[in-house]
Amino acid sequence: MANSVPHLEELRKMDRAHHLHPFTDHAAMHPGGTHILTGGKGVYLQGEEGTLLDGLAGLWCVNVGYGRKEIVDAVTKQMTELSFYPSFFNSTTEPAVRLADRLGQMAPGDLNYVVFSNSGSEANETALKIIRQYQILKGKPNRMKILTREYAYHGVTLATASMTGLPNCQIPYGLPLPGFLHAPAPYAYAVGREKEAEAYGQDCVATTRKLIEKEGPETIGAMFLEPVQGAGGVIVPPPGYLAAMRKLAREYEILFVADEVITAFGRLGAWFASEMWALEPDLMILAKGLTSGYISMGATVVSQPIADVLMKGGYFAHGFTYSGHPVAAAAGLANVEIIEKEKLVEKTQEKIGPYFQKKLQEFAGHPAVGEVRGVGLIGAMELLPKGGRKDLKPGINLGITGAGKVRAEGAIVRGIRDLLAFAPPLVITEKEIDELFGAVRRGIDKLWD
Ligand SMILES: Cc1ncc(COP(=O)(O)O)c(C=O)c1O
Repeated sequence: MANSVPHLEELRKMDRAHHLHPFTDHAAMHPGGTHILTGGKGVYLQGEEGTLLDGLAGLWCVNVGYGRKEIVDAVTKQMTELSFYPSFFNSTTEPAVRLADRLGQMAPGDLNYVVFSNSGSEANETALKIIRQYQILKGKPNRMKILTREYAYHGVTLATASMTGLPNCQIPYGLPLPGFLHAPAPYAYAVGREKEAEAYGQDCVATTRKLIEKEGPETIGAMFLEPVQGAGGVIVPPPGYLAAMRKLAREYEILFVADEVITAFGRLGAWFASEMWALEPDLMILAKGLTSGYISMGATVVSQPIADVLMKGGYFAHGFTYSGHPVAAAAGLANVEIIEKEKLVEKTQEKIGPYFQKKLQEFAGHPAVGEVRGVGLIGAMELLPKGGRKDLKPGINLGITGAGKVRAEGAIVRGIRDLLAFAPPLVITEKEIDELFGAVRRGIDKLWD
């Protein structure tokens, strides 16, 4: 199949010669060559492997599905009228203002002001700078440390990779930088306590409290949390855990940041996880589903009290050339309209999310499955070797093997360590969910072959 498409072979050759891919083992990829995708519609992608059902929505982002004409039209219109103008130095463009207004209105609690950027990493980096500036303006310049968790993923810049709690993102770069603290994640399965996940969650909270006390609460500026940890392995918080972490932050006057890069825009069956779980964050981080990945965009949403301090504090010396890019903002507005018009949040909450979770649960008890978990339209399946849990060892990466087998059966899922992760577009139908899990079942039935 692959070799019968000459121009793709040519592309693969160029790719080998000149393209360093993100998060890729090039030595492993080069012999076979990269996969080149050529088209997309709804939940399906086209490529040399034929049609593939995208069970990961690109990279947890294509919430409204591929090929949406409404977004193409909005972007074309904006590019035709005004392709670019920055929001620096007292100017801006209509889509940037409209999207800021929209997000400010939609965001829960007193989140009200939006700082635009181009990615989740930049949105988190922006939050870090705002937090530092805020603490300085409040007369607390010692509150510079940042608390996150093991298995967290917050991005790849030096600071956001320091916030990330994944050793493979840090070791090659000599990270974390000083001042980044990592509390345990409530990943009960990883420590064999999945049958008492709630108690384990509370133990994690107690350990976090000890860490705060040891470091000195007066030295910690903010706590960043993904409501559901995504790239770290779809770690779903046990009941009571997030509320207790929120309480802890409040008790020690540590700002609370919800990194909703994956969880916002309907993924969990709510516009924002912060709203669903009453997190009342001081800052909220958005990207991915903000434009459904049609054009890159990130946003840092800031509470009214923080924005007041910043605005009174004088010049805001931060921003990217493309902060609030009018074309990205036009894509964002069209994307939000689709989510609203097609009631994708409500559907995920009431119908498609529960169906997806039900089908996922059917894998519990499969001999190659140690645990399934999820919420809304995100899920994970922990895989087991033939000898069972006792034979799980770092580096066997059953998730990578499993994802390869599922792909051969017609669906893309993500392999992380020994698990499979799922996050299909929100437009997925019940029939397509059956198709996705059909491919997953055929794939994992062959996991040990
Ligand atoms: C929760 C979270 N934060 C931040 C990021 C970084 O976003 P980006 O890759 O757009 O820089 C990601 C990316 O997966 C993410 O999942």
